[in-house]
Amino acid sequence: MELIQVADDVGDEMTLVSYNGRRYPLFPGSMQTRPLEKIPSVEIRSDDIIVCTFPKSGTHWVCEMVRLLVAGQLDQDIGKGFHVIEGFSEDTYKDLPSPRILNTHLLFNELPKQVKENKPRIVYVTRNPKDVTVSYFNHVKKLSYNYSGEWKNFVRPSLEGKFDYGSWFDYVKDWEEVKKTTDVPILTLNYEDMKEDAFREMKKMQTFLGTERSDDFLQKVCDRCSFASMKNSKEPLSQIMYRKGETGDWKNWFTVAQNEWFDQIYREKMKDCPLEFRYTLK
Ligand code: A3P
Repeated sequence: MELIQVADDVGDEMTLVSYNGRRYPLFPGSMQTRPLEKIPSVEIRSDDIIVCTFPKSGTHWVCEMVRLLVAGQLDQDIGKGFHVIEGFSEDTYKDLPSPRILNTHLLFNELPKQVKENKPRIVYVTRNPKDVTVSYFNHVKKLSYNYSGEWKNFVRPSLEGKFDYGSWFDYVKDWEEVKKTTDVPILTLNYEDMKEDAFREMKKMQTFLGTERSDDFLQKVCDRCSFASMKNSKEPLSQIMYRKGETGDWKNWFTVAQNEWFDQIYREKMKDCPLEFRYTLK
């Protein structure tokens, strides 16, 4: 595990962690606890629920919905149940009562070995890559990446996978392959679908997780987890993590040329992958 500087298109750098040929953000305290080196041996229980996402795809939103759904009661603890497998020492979540809700941006094959043995339930969330890239740029600018670069120089290296967690394309394609072969149970959710109808997607979570909450309770969870409610929470990073919460903000950022470049890259990289995304909602 070592700290590295990674440059954008014009040489503006950000600070990342490099480990085993992959790049990660510098989680607070992670250089001391070195969680990346310990991932393979992290204990996973069969009743764990693991939320898997490419960064900025709605991780906090889904973790919160799952947490309240499982708890069966509403509380004020928004954000407190956020346990990133690769970000923090296992000590911070190993003694939590079952079912634990963990989350990660790792690829399936990078997850702890016991995932394949104990088959926890995985909730996998996708989001359209244009909004992901905008959200990620804003995230990088505000958190401890030491990055002072500009959007125009960030888009290409970001989508080509130069920064933390690599390429969005590689990530989603890998999960599509995993879903064809693994017997670990996986529910796929999508940010745009949740924006369209959070209650409908919540029902899917309920079926997958086997909870038996009333429609009235599910609606209350959706309301508690609305963007406005989460942004107004007392969570320390709420103003950064809950930025805009919209589909289509990319139109305020991508130039015509960037958009054309993106569409071409998308066609090339996704030609063998039937995934489709919605970039606007009516
Ligand atoms: P924006 O930056 O586009 O606003 P993650 O949790 O994976 O880091 O994802 C963060 C993105 O999800 C941010 O997108 C954030 O605003 C959005 N988000 C978080 N909670 C949300 C909610 N309750 N409803 C809609 N979007 C939400």
